[in-house]
Amino acid sequence: MALKTRKIHQGDCLKLMRKIGDGTVDLVFADPPFNIGYEYDQYDDRQDDEKYLAWCREWIAEVHRVLSPTGTFWLAIGDEYAAELKVAAQREIGFTTRSWVIWYYTFGVNCKNKFSRSHAHLFHFVKDEKQFTFNADDPKIRVPSARALVYGDKRANPKGRLPDDTWILRPQDFQSDQYGFTPEQDTWYFSRVAGTFKERQGFHGCQMPEQLLGRIIRASSDEGDLVFDPFAGSGTTLAVAKKLGREWLGCELSEDYVEYATQRLSEVELNDALDGPADPIASAPSTRNGTTLESRNRRMAANKKQKTLIPDRVD
Ligand SMILES: C[S@@+](CC[C@H](N)C(=O)[O-])C[C@H]1O[C@@H](n2cnc3c(N)ncnc32)[C@H](O)[C@@H]1O
Repeated sequence: MALKTRKIHQGDCLKLMRKIGDGTVDLVFADPPFNIGYEYDQYDDRQDDEKYLAWCREWIAEVHRVLSPTGTFWLAIGDEYAAELKVAAQREIGFTTRSWVIWYYTFGVNCKNKFSRSHAHLFHFVKDEKQFTFNADDPKIRVPSARALVYGDKRANPKGRLPDDTWILRPQDFQSDQYGFTPEQDTWYFSRVAGTFKERQGFHGCQMPEQLLGRIIRASSDEGDLVFDPFAGSGTTLAVAKKLGREWLGCELSEDYVEYATQRLSEVELNDALDGPADPIASAPSTRNGTTLESRNRRMAANKKQKTLIPDRVD
């Protein structure tokens, strides 16, 4: 492993990944640019279709190489390229698909001339179709069954059941801490991390919710395993990996994002609770009291280098 772990490396992930040894990573989570014209500070998110797909094939092949024989690759992607990238990862590069998860999120950005988008795709790929980590019994990824929740049926498994592959994560499923979520920790009602939420770091419009990464990392890795994120952004994957006692490693093109995400990581400790909305009944993520996106960004601009409003990722 020539790339130092517990660090976000600045640069092109394709070049940086070439410095990672074969088979040395246990879990990769990648949330690449979706090629929808989002304004990143450095990356141009308007590539020709074929160029974008060729680039994705290249970095996904590198992900395959660096993963251990029992490694797992989770890919977050939008509608535009989900189909092509699934075919590429599975048929061309050699991954096996375990699940095609739909993450249904609340607080989607309103659209005027079509139905507002409220989902993203999460592909769960493994390198070996038989040997891979999947912690099905971890109580923190299990949810109550309808038998327990709706019907109060005594035959319900007290340990709950594995979630479905559509992650709606309703608040009413989490009124008890026996399934791993207390009101302080969050519900599995994953909203996007919208601009006004307390969880939002303020420098990145594509920040993933920590609770979503919590489920992925708990399910697909063990303590001490190495989790790698080639597109670290605001550092969510790595922050959650650190909180959950995993080794972590990231790449990010933007110097500014690296700086901010590194600061975020320095404030995170092992066993810290994952961020997210506080009230499972209302499932209303906390906003900074009295804070608007504009006033938040004014504050960020004064405090750090942040100068512009950070819009959300929409097509
Ligand atoms: C969708 S965002 C990731 C957001 C992240 N999941 C989070 O929770 O904050 C994609 C990131 O990839 C970065 N990026 C784009 N091209 C890259 C490249 N070739 N190598 C490394 N990072 C890149 C962008 O700067 C952006 O921060």
